[in-house]
Amino acid sequence: MRKPFIAGNWKMNLERKSALGLVAQLRERVGQRADIEVAVCPPFVYLDAVVQALNGSPIKVGAQNCCDETSGAFTGEISASMLIDIGCDLVILGHSERRQIYGETSELVNSKVHTALDAGLEVILCVGETRAEREEQRTEKVVGAQLVAGLSGIDGRSMQRVTIAYEPVWAIGTGLNATPDQAGAVHSYLRGVLGGLYSDSIAESVRIQYGGSVKPSNVRELMAVPHIDGCLVGGASLTADSFISLLEFR
Ligand code: 13P
Repeated sequence: MRKPFIAGNWKMNLERKSALGLVAQLRERVGQRADIEVAVCPPFVYLDAVVQALNGSPIKVGAQNCCDETSGAFTGEISASMLIDIGCDLVILGHSERRQIYGETSELVNSKVHTALDAGLEVILCVGETRAEREEQRTEKVVGAQLVAGLSGIDGRSMQRVTIAYEPVWAIGTGLNATPDQAGAVHSYLRGVLGGLYSDSIAESVRIQYGGSVKPSNVRELMAVPHIDGCLVGGASLTADSFISLLEFR
């Protein structure tokens, strides 16, 4: 069985005090949940403090990006091994904001996936179509290609440390989530692609999160869909009350 996995992507939000206040409440109120996996993904500068604040708690800590190179003259970049060094568990890669605003290609994302896994991190690999791509009925083609390219050269064993996040771009930060049927169809398609790339048993073991306007009011219906194994949450992960109520989806 795939353990549900809910991760909060704080994006470029919160400050030291609010970040530490949030994780203190999470630690106290959800620290003992064994039935679900929970992660928070703060901005780089707060990662160290958040790792310390969650020390000994099962809540995982992730970064929102990392460099595809291992070390050297890459001004402004953060390596995967630095993230391991400070105690991070995972990294989000290929988020649509990285792809669209910062021009990350699937080839670059794939290179980052390799570097992150080699360093020992877990990876949340994001895929998702734009509104225009959906309207042109190209959703499967787009997300399938992002998945195949993002996982190029990644072996089946490493897939134990990979989670896929389906995040339709048109649903991110818009308040307009994909319906359970829309999301379920894409999740099922992505699992089929994983089966073709690896094997049915590996495809069945990989968790596929949904992301895009997940909130306490819609999490239950989304999490009830068979191939939705968790959520990658932006805005609703920024306060303890809303994030914790998301975790109460059953
Ligand atoms: P929102 O939950 O704010 O729509 O953001 C989703 C997202 O991009 C998570 O990575």
